[in-house]
Amino acid sequence: MKFAVGSRPWVIANTDCIWGDNGKGRLTNNIILAVMQHFLSLFRREPRIAVVRSLGGANAGHEVVLGEAKHARHVLPSVYHPNVWMIIAAGTVVHPPWFLEEVEKAVAFDPNVRDWIRISGRATVTMPWDRLEDRYREEALGRGKIGTTQRGIGPSYEGLARRVQNVHFAMLQRPDWTEEYHRLRGEAIGRLVRLYAHLPEEGDATSQVEASLAEIEDGFLDACAEIVQYVVECHELERIYEAADVAILEGNQGLGLHHLFGSRPFVTSAPTDPLSMASAAMLPPPDRVLYVAKCFATRVGAGPFPTKLDDPEATRLRETAREFGTTTGRPRDVGWFDLVFAEHALRCMAARWLPAEAVGLGITKLDCLDGWGGRVRLATAYDLNGSEIYHVPDDTASLARCVPRYAEYDPWSGPSEQCRSFAELDEACRTFLLGDWEERSGLQGLLGVRLRVATAGPQPENALWVDGDGRWLLPE
Ligand code: IMP
Repeated sequence: MKFAVGSRPWVIANTDCIWGDNGKGRLTNNIILAVMQHFLSLFRREPRIAVVRSLGGANAGHEVVLGEAKHARHVLPSVYHPNVWMIIAAGTVVHPPWFLEEVEKAVAFDPNVRDWIRISGRATVTMPWDRLEDRYREEALGRGKIGTTQRGIGPSYEGLARRVQNVHFAMLQRPDWTEEYHRLRGEAIGRLVRLYAHLPEEGDATSQVEASLAEIEDGFLDACAEIVQYVVECHELERIYEAADVAILEGNQGLGLHHLFGSRPFVTSAPTDPLSMASAAMLPPPDRVLYVAKCFATRVGAGPFPTKLDDPEATRLRETAREFGTTTGRPRDVGWFDLVFAEHALRCMAARWLPAEAVGLGITKLDCLDGWGGRVRLATAYDLNGSEIYHVPDDTASLARCVPRYAEYDPWSGPSEQCRSFAELDEACRTFLLGDWEERSGLQGLLGVRLRVATAGPQPENALWVDGDGRWLLPE
């Protein structure tokens, strides 16, 4: 692979294989650090890196801990280094006021960050009425609600698919954008009144919708005027990629929330797999894919979660592992690592058909199970209607009836957080992670994908690359 201007960038995808919230943000930071280190030693220069979010929106909550400070990113890629491109590509849905708030926080970290942010003119704008519709829809669904993050994600993608009310960033530069906005606003109010007039509120529906909209649209048009400075055309984005040595695709949510392959309808409204991420970014298929999961499982929002733990273990794990949503603050459901689901995820992401050296696992939060008082479990099969099955049923109602069967492993002792190399982890922990490749045991052996990195604490130095330094990320 030649790293020269005009050649295509080397593409690394960082993707989640369960229900999201597995540590992609912090791993993006570790990937950047490893790539920088290798470039400096191999080529004696800093690499040109573009980190790209190409799907999803402010529903994501990527957290990076640096020293005492905890940073949350929602749409902006998790970049904390100067001179790294932060691209928000065509498949995303972005609400301008929230985006600008995120930029302000990033500026506090790096005053020049604005020069490195670009939004595709084809990314979809989450309109104020999309937020309102997300709320009304959930209220209307009542007990059947999805438990969305209320960030207007579903309605934004619906507008895109319906081809009406679909605003993308290039439109914000039109001279008549304000009139267009008011025209769309009138249409949206009519639609919301038609669909949700039955919701139990007092007074006439039109003025209620008007009033709720007025509350959330304050400052929206100003934000639209400000955000256009970041908007680029596809050909300009291609120039940036051409000049980049490495493009890192930062994933959204996880395969369990993929709009096709997740637990429908309890999913988000976008795909979450690395091939979709690459195409929505205008990049070729990734050269390296890191599939990220915790050493246990969490889920937030409604929908089946076969390995979910009950109290008191659930509360203990949730509190030890600080499992509360970055975007919404909701307590997450917690449970054991689900190999059946992880295998489903890898299958749907075509992991088996990619070259073995191109794929890898990243397992996070090992420190949270340090000294767990009992055996650590891995779900290896489900019982469904009296039969043992090894796959995730396509019908979510069947998935909800699956009862996991577990393999048990010895707990490990810590503090793992003090380990500075993979080899220093407690042997029980390495057995749980690596097992035996030939005999198909342990997390790696059972999934048939090599473990590349494990994390045992939130700080950058708590990421332990199995090869020592993450050289795996780059070409031979
Ligand atoms: P939406 O994406 O806000 O429409 O939410 C749909 C479902 O995806 C809900 O169950 C959310 O809790 C879940 N969800 C959305 N984004 C995330 C995320 O970043 N992490 C975990 N769950 C998420």
